[in-house]
Amino acid sequence: MLDPIQYDSIKCGHGSVLSVLQGAIFPGETAWQAPSFETLLANPTCFGFFVAPQKNRETPFGFLLMQTVLDEAEILSFGILPKFRKKGVGSALLQHGLYFLQKQNITEVFLEVAEDNLAALKTYQALNFKQYGKRPNYYNRQKGVTCSALLLKKLLS
Ligand SMILES: CC(C)(COP(=O)(O)OP(=O)(O)OC[C@H]1O[C@@H](n2cnc3c(N)ncnc32)[C@H](O)[C@@H]1OP(=O)(O)O)[C@@H](O)C(=O)NCCC(=O)NCCS
Repeated sequence: MLDPIQYDSIKCGHGSVLSVLQGAIFPGETAWQAPSFETLLANPTCFGFFVAPQKNRETPFGFLLMQTVLDEAEILSFGILPKFRKKGVGSALLQHGLYFLQKQNITEVFLEVAEDNLAALKTYQALNFKQYGKRPNYYNRQKGVTCSALLLKKLLS
């Protein structure tokens, strides 16, 4: 059983936390450095949420980072630490973000996901994201193998 969770807004100054969290969520990939996150967070169109145990809000175990352009939004980075996965937290965090976007009158959300990322695809499909495009051979895997990026979107009403 997972302890009760809490969502907290990501703010300027959270770049280091985000960089460490992203590194642990995407092992084997190069995490964005803290200053890169800070540059994004300095832009008022960029925002997001941490998810953490209610009893320990200082140690988030997942995050969702998004950016808006006019009435559209893009999911920039999103993930849950391995230990906390498959407990419904990823979907709950995503729904929290989508609800926030709706309140901001955002009408459509876009994202990019690797075709071999079944967990993420399942998560997005369960929330009714639909594929609208594909970038072949977009990601490099080991030993020269490549993987396509799928472009997904969801209409918010
Ligand atoms: C994608 C991710 C955020 C999902 O988080 P999570 O907390 O495990 O997701 P949930 O427990 O809410 O599960 C959501 C759905 O995905 C399914 N799912 C989760 N992990 C899965 C897996 N490894 N294989 C198959 N299905 C999976 C669940 O069964 C659930 O489907 P349902 O609603 O039909 O039952 C998490 O796997 C993660 O952080 N992955 C690494 C980072 C990443 O890939 N981010 C997205 C980049 S685009």
